[in-house]
Amino acid sequence: MTFSAPITLLYLLAAVLFIWGLHQLSSPRHARMGNLLAAAGMVIAFAATVPGLHHSVLNLVLMVVAILIGAPLGAVAARAVRMTAMPQMVATFNGVGGGAAALISVVEFLRAPSTVAIPIVLSIPVVFAVVIGATSFAGSGVAYAKLQELMRGTPIIYRGQQPVNAAVAAAIVVLGVLLVVTGVGVLALWALLVLSLLLGVAFVLPIGGADMPVVISMLNAFTGLAVAGDGFVLGNPVLIVGGTLVGASGTFLTKMMSDAMGRSIGNLLFGAFGTVLVTEQSAAGGAGRSVRSGTADDIGTLLAYSQKVIFVPGYGLAVAQAQHAVRDLAELLEKRGVEVDYAIHPVAGRMPGHMNVLLAEANVPYEQLKEMDEINDAFRSTDVALVVGANDVVNPAARNSPGSPIYGMPILNVDQAKNIVFLKRSMRPGFAGIDNELLYDPKTIMLFGDAKDSLTSLVAAVKAA
Ligand code: TAP
Repeated sequence: MTFSAPITLLYLLAAVLFIWGLHQLSSPRHARMGNLLAAAGMVIAFAATVPGLHHSVLNLVLMVVAILIGAPLGAVAARAVRMTAMPQMVATFNGVGGGAAALISVVEFLRAPSTVAIPIVLSIPVVFAVVIGATSFAGSGVAYAKLQELMRGTPIIYRGQQPVNAAVAAAIVVLGVLLVVTGVGVLALWALLVLSLLLGVAFVLPIGGADMPVVISMLNAFTGLAVAGDGFVLGNPVLIVGGTLVGASGTFLTKMMSDAMGRSIGNLLFGAFGTVLVTEQSAAGGAGRSVRSGTADDIGTLLAYSQKVIFVPGYGLAVAQAQHAVRDLAELLEKRGVEVDYAIHPVAGRMPGHMNVLLAEANVPYEQLKEMDEINDAFRSTDVALVVGANDVVNPAARNSPGSPIYGMPILNVDQAKNIVFLKRSMRPGFAGIDNELLYDPKTIMLFGDAKDSLTSLVAAVKAA
C-alpha cells in the first residue's frame, strides 16, 4: 500500500514520538513525559489512518465504536488497578494486543480470493503474526489466570507434556511452511490459529505463578513482533516501527530481568522455571533458631541517633502499601539531620521498576533512589539498613551458597551495615522460598508486623526519642 506524502509524514512523526517517548522512559524523572509523547504518537498514527478508510464508512463507524468502548475501559482499569495487580493488567493488555495482531493477519488472508495464492512477501508476515500473536494471546491469558489466582499458580506438569508440546510446535511449523509456500489454504490458516493458541497455553502452564512477570515481559515482546508482522501485511510503516520497538524493548527487559535474578534465559525457559523451592526449614520459618526481635521504641531510638540510614524496600512494601509511611519516616529522620537513601534492587518486588513507581507515587525525591551498583559500597559506612518487606534481594545465600536457587543473583550488601532492621510479619521466606541467614545475624533486629503499621509506630517512636 502506498500513502500520500502528508500521511507518510504523519506516520514518520508518530514513529519519532514513539522512539522519543521510549527514550524518556529510561528515567523516572521523564517517564511521565515519555508516556505522553508515545500517546501523542498514537493519536497522530490514528488520525493518519482515518483518511485511508474513506471508501468504507462502516470501517470508520466500527473503529469509532471500538474506541468508544476500549478507551474508557482502558482508562478506568489503569486508574483503578492496585500496584500489586499491575502485572495482571499488563498481561491483559498485552494479550489482547497479540490477539488483535493475529486476527488482523487472518482477515487480510481471508480478503484474498481463496483460489489465488497470496505472494510470499505477504504469506510470511501473515503466518508470523498469526502464530506469534495467538501464542501471546493465549499465554497471557494463562499468565493472568495464575497471577489472579483463578487457577493454581504452581507449575502444572502432566505426563507426556513435552512430547505433546513438541508435536504441537512441529505441526505449527509444517502448516506454516505449507501456507508460506502455497499461499492458499483457509482451513490450514484456521488450524494454525488454533494450534498457536494451544501452544500459548501449553508454554505457560508449566511455569510457576511467581515467575509470571518475566513470562509477561517475553510475551509482550512477542506481541510487538506480531504487530510488526501486521505492519508488513498492511504495508503500514508505523506498525512496523511501533511493533519492532515493543519487540526489542521487551526482549531487553526479559534479558535484564533474568540477569538481575542470576538466571540465564535458557534456564528460565527450559530449566526449573517458576519452581518455588520451599525447604522444610524455610517453610517452618527457621523453626528452633533464635532471632533478636525489638520494639518500635528501641528501633526508633536507634534510628533517631544514627548518622546514616539506608531504606531497602521489597515486595512487602507493595503488599502493605507502605510507601507513604516510609517517606514520612525518612523525612522525620532527615529533619533530625540523619542522612537517608533508598537502595533499589533491580528485581525487588514483582515487576520491573516496582519500587521506583511506588516511591515516586509517595513523592520520594528521585535523587534518593540509588541503584544497587551505586549504593552497595555505602552499606559499610551505614548505621542502620532498614529492610522494609524485602528478603531475597538481601539474602547472602546468593553469594555464599552454591546450590541455592538464588546463587549468583547480585544482592544488596545489607549484611555490611552496622545494624540491620527487618520489618516483616513473620520468619516466612520470600519469593524464592529459602531461608535467609541474615535474619539470624547478631546485628539483625526484627520488628514483626505489617510494614505500614511498623513504620507508623517507628514514626511515633522517633518523634518521642
Ligand atoms: P521477597 O523475597 O519476595 O520477600 C518479600 C517479603 O515481604 C517476605 O519475606 C514477606 O515476609 C514480606 N512481606 C509480605 N507482606 C508484608 C507486609 N504486609 N508487611 C511486611 N512484610 C511483608 O521480595 P524481594 O526481596 O523484593 O525480592 C523479590 C523476589 O521476587 C526475588 O526473588 C525476585 O527474583 C522475584 N521476582 C521479581 C520480579 C521483578 S521484575 N521484580 C519478577 C519475578 C520474580 P512475611 O510474609 O514474613 O511478612
